[in-house]
Amino acid sequence: MFQTIEIDEIIRQCFTALSFKPYPEHLYDPLRYMISIGGKRIRPRLCLTAYNLFSDRIDNSILKPMMAIEVFHCFTLIHDDIMDNSDRRRGQLTVHRKWDSNTAILSGDVMSIEAYSLLSEAPAEILPDVMRLFNDTATKVCEGQQLDMDFEKSSVVTLDEYLKMIGLKTAVLIACSGKMGAMIAGAPRKTCEAIYDYGYFIGMAFQIMDDYLDTFGDSIIFGKNIGGDIVNNKKSWLLVYAMKTASSENSSRLHGILAMPVGTPEERASKIAAMKELYMELGADSAALSEIEKYHVKAMEALKDSSLEPRQLERLRDYLESLFNRKK
Ligand code: IPE
Ligand code: IPE
Ligand code: MG
Ligand code: MG
Ligand code: MG
Repeated sequence: MFQTIEIDEIIRQCFTALSFKPYPEHLYDPLRYMISIGGKRIRPRLCLTAYNLFSDRIDNSILKPMMAIEVFHCFTLIHDDIMDNSDRRRGQLTVHRKWDSNTAILSGDVMSIEAYSLLSEAPAEILPDVMRLFNDTATKVCEGQQLDMDFEKSSVVTLDEYLKMIGLKTAVLIACSGKMGAMIAGAPRKTCEAIYDYGYFIGMAFQIMDDYLDTFGDSIIFGKNIGGDIVNNKKSWLLVYAMKTASSENSSRLHGILAMPVGTPEERASKIAAMKELYMELGADSAALSEIEKYHVKAMEALKDSSLEPRQLERLRDYLESLFNRKK
């Protein structure tokens, strides 16, 4: 097995070498931009880590599908930033702000096609299975994104509805990353499924942390503007928790904050401050962090009957721990 830093170096080299056509430059420049501004690359790291539990032969048969997952992820971010009206990502301007929305739509489209081209280079004997997994995942991401948009307009969203939504928009892609790595390495089916569940629970924790950081993070480190979820009345984990736990007095306060206008920077800042204060009074911040821990425990439990050896389990624990206490 390779060391984590070796895996990271392989991933870095892959994305440095990844190129897109030069012309038309307004179509492909945003793709180069999204890849060059980086990101944490947690999905390719999980894909390669899971593969490497079973095989040391790292070549294009795994590297291309691994890149496909990250390229697909970047495509979802380009469109997500239009949908969420977000200005900053990875510490830089979002594609629709640096260029415009039409550019972001079409560059996003071609980026998803690039993802499929990379995926098609998976080994022929396993390509149908890989394709089925990827298509199923990509469809679910769209379903989750639609629920996320629908929920902005709903006055009440339950915790179960929220969990279903983040399972679709975020957790399935992380689950797919791990499972695909294991599948391409030829791991037994039951083990692949266990790694999928492990990735799914990590993904749930990951989105709850993202929701937490959207309100309580540091914008420089997080790389995105703080408070975007509050401005959009996004049904984040924090808001769903606040809706569930607010007393009747706090509940009318909560609905008052949701109705606050967001037309000017000053209005947005007062809405963010008011909601943040309510979250802290209700203890939503610390409740989110303990929920994240519960999902981390579930992730390791999902591996119980996976027939993985201690050294393989240790690798997956290291990966999970690398996501603990993240600030970005
Ligand atoms: C952002 O994903 C979208 C979510 C699912 C929360 P990441 O936090 O992995 O974004 P990058 O790739 O590191 O920028
Ligand atoms: C992202 O959810 C999920 C997908 C992009 C599919 P968010 O909207 O919370 O992600 P960020 O916060 O913009 O990265
Ligand atoms: Mg979104
Ligand atoms: Mg967003
Ligand atoms: Mg977010």
